[in-house]
Amino acid sequence: MYILGIETSCDETAASVVTRDRHGKPHLLSNVVLSQIDEHSEFGGVVPEIAARAHLSAIDHIIKRALDKASLDLSKINGIGVTAGPGLVGGLMVGLMTAKALSASRGIPYLGVNHLEGHALTARLADDVSYPYLLLLVSGGHSQIVRVDGLGDYTRLATTIDDAVGEAFDKTAKLLGLEFPGGPNVEKAAKTGDASRFKFPMPLRGQETLNMSFSGLKTAIRTQAQKLVPLRDQDIADLCASMQKTVAEILANRCERAMAQCDGIDTLVVAGGVASNTEIRTRLDALCEQNNYKLIAPPLKLCTDNAAMIAWAALERFERGETSDMNLAPRSRWPLDGSTESVIGSGRKGAKV
Ligand code: KG4
Ligand code: ZN
Repeated sequence: MYILGIETSCDETAASVVTRDRHGKPHLLSNVVLSQIDEHSEFGGVVPEIAARAHLSAIDHIIKRALDKASLDLSKINGIGVTAGPGLVGGLMVGLMTAKALSASRGIPYLGVNHLEGHALTARLADDVSYPYLLLLVSGGHSQIVRVDGLGDYTRLATTIDDAVGEAFDKTAKLLGLEFPGGPNVEKAAKTGDASRFKFPMPLRGQETLNMSFSGLKTAIRTQAQKLVPLRDQDIADLCASMQKTVAEILANRCERAMAQCDGIDTLVVAGGVASNTEIRTRLDALCEQNNYKLIAPPLKLCTDNAAMIAWAALERFERGETSDMNLAPRSRWPLDGSTESVIGSGRKGAKV
């Protein structure tokens, strides 16, 4: 089965082709991602209207490039997976309409995929990980710890109660005058910084909940930065390094507590854009070693938004006989685990301004 994936939920227009061979092994045949960073950077975040228009003008040739790179044409594609939510509704509509049009004109099935499920299953495409596992999903719109027992069998153990981790990186960058997107630039600045110079708060630490909170961190950084004005490059580097270390510590602390609740699991998968942060990976690696866990961190190009993860999630669901019909509408909010009570910050993905 060759599956074409389409992703347009935020500021990347992406298409990919994946397959599974007769031995059950996953293969990534192409993974094309066009970032709209330049279009949004002057606004310091993603502008939904600009994003939707940019997706519309790029989607056809991005799909063509993904097919070309996989050395396939549309006649060889057996199914299409497309992000149907959560995300910015204008972008989701562009992807969904494209998938529906291809499906109708070619007579092939399509399936609306939850973007979070894409992130959640990436490690099965990249590292052939088997169920069950613990998932730390950290992106620009989400921060969750999820127990993954099978396809569609997700239990959310923790979520942020305010900002997402990626959002905390983006806002920190903005207030320190670093360019959008914040995460990679904070990480770059942190390389020459002293992580022990500032001690930032770790909200909810020590409390029974596994939930996380990052908005206080942003405020603490602002307060500290205001005391230092005018900021020297070294101050910015030290603030970034201290912030990054605090975030890594919060995530490790929550994951450790989640591990204690998860009998029979020995794998921690980290996914989402923030998972590309080396300091966070290193901290989680140490945590896993202490707790006899295996850490699986997908390659960087599969951590940030991409269509390979969408194609893969669709492939797993197609194999189970699922398809979507033409009435499917985009869902700007779509929690991964519908059974857990909704908390602000969970199941949400939107403009990162
Ligand atoms: O998964 P993703 O590409 O999109 C969403 O689904 O949100 O994640 C994007 C987020 C942004 O907030 C970005 O600043 C953050 O991931 N990010 C990072 C790094 N690379 C991307 N955060 C920290 N360190 C990084 N190296
Ligand atoms: Zn994402």
